[in-house]
Amino acid sequence: MTEETLTIRNNSTGKEADFSLLKGTIGTPVIDVSSLNKKMGLFTYDPGFMSTSSCKSAITYIDGEKGVLLYRGYPIDQLAEKCSFLEVAHLLMNGELASDSKQAEFEHEVGQHAMLHEAMRSFIDGFHYDAHPMAMMVGIVGSLSAFYHSELDMNDPEHRRISAMRMLAKMPVIAAACYRHSIGFPFVYPRSDLSYCENFLNMMFSLPSQKYIDKDNYIDPVAVKALNLLFILHADHEQNASTSTVRLASSTGANPYACIAAGIGALWGPAHGGANEAVLSMLEEIGTVDRIPMFIEKAKDKNDPFRLMGFGHRVYKNFDPRATIIRKACYEVLEGLAGSEKDPLFELALELEKYALNDEYFIEKKLYPNVDFYSGIIYKALNIPVDMFTVMFTIARTAGWVSHWLEMMAEPGQRIGRPRQIYTGHDIRNI
Ligand code: SDX
Repeated sequence: MTEETLTIRNNSTGKEADFSLLKGTIGTPVIDVSSLNKKMGLFTYDPGFMSTSSCKSAITYIDGEKGVLLYRGYPIDQLAEKCSFLEVAHLLMNGELASDSKQAEFEHEVGQHAMLHEAMRSFIDGFHYDAHPMAMMVGIVGSLSAFYHSELDMNDPEHRRISAMRMLAKMPVIAAACYRHSIGFPFVYPRSDLSYCENFLNMMFSLPSQKYIDKDNYIDPVAVKALNLLFILHADHEQNASTSTVRLASSTGANPYACIAAGIGALWGPAHGGANEAVLSMLEEIGTVDRIPMFIEKAKDKNDPFRLMGFGHRVYKNFDPRATIIRKACYEVLEGLAGSEKDPLFELALELEKYALNDEYFIEKKLYPNVDFYSGIIYKALNIPVDMFTVMFTIARTAGWVSHWLEMMAEPGQRIGRPRQIYTGHDIRNI
């Protein structure tokens, strides 16, 4: 961390002071303003944190101008091409890709933690059948701390590691349980002979009435490959809203399950992870190519709250590298999965992208398809229901959330996050 200084002068008072200019390995330098109030009696103001770094992190790097996304230094397209989701999870959580033996140990431990406490099933059954699965996820994950009292000494690195592994392992089991509950089908237990993504598909779609045949006969490898890819692409993304929520909650020393549940709540918003579900609803509302111009005009109309879901990004101002990879995968998955060769919504999405990218408004505001624009096309081809799309994002992002949680909890001198404000209310007054 190299340091230069920057002098800030308050012209109205003449006060000035030097502040450190910090530079990371790569990326935009930052001014350390932590002593600004002490030195100059000032706060900074940055709603939405457009220009604010909240922490130091070695996990993920994004260059919004160049469309670069690195997990622990590895470019996302290489990881998407060469790794499985659990290999990437190990990389994010531990800093390095594991050797074959270490990866086998890691995956064995994930399998050991996959089972849910049997009492959780009555908790899940307590939800109304039509509860939104994201509402169930927030509740069930938050309740994990009620089921797992042991290993909750947050000062113990081993307790932290076990908690992180538990969440990585249990998230797909809880997700599939929510889906099975919503359709009134029996809960399916995870199996030790299946990989992480094979297990998820089995827990989602296998039927007790189905004659047992081996996995090669009923879990489509095209679907497994597509899931690994989507989970890798959604695994982490620097200090996005849900990850920042996990970090802020964790700064109070709250238990990790409650902190991850807070992240799930933040991810659910349509401006964030909820966008993938909103994209499918938007494409279904647009319906046909001839209706695209009308919706593009709606998206541009300041008086219309409608936004083109799956477009735009706080950081990426040229293209989201994940959207590029997913668009290409859509062709392969739709070709490869029997019965989904042609999806009119995919054709519509391609036309909508073409139209938007040639529209002055979208060009001027640098609005491009983001990770959520095409992911739903693949989830739909995998028969994942639309209201489960953000749950899929939750499964993947758990790897990122627990990695950031582990990173910040291991950092010495952690302090509670507590931003200030500009007060615009009444001055002191008497009743
Ligand atoms: C994710 O942060 C992350 O890394 C998130 C994420 C991750 O992996 O964690 O990448 C995942 O959340 C992706 C984003 C998914 N959300 C959507 O697709 C919802 C639609 N997009 C927008 O709501 C918006 O683009 C955001 C929320 C993504 C970004 O919001 P910003 O950076 O605050 O941008 P903004 O709202 O200030 O918009 C800038 C301008 C505005 O116009 P002006 O006020 O300048 O005239 O662009 C316009 C906006 O009105 N605009 C859009 C638009 N997005 C921005 N206009 C129409 N349609 C859109 N989608």
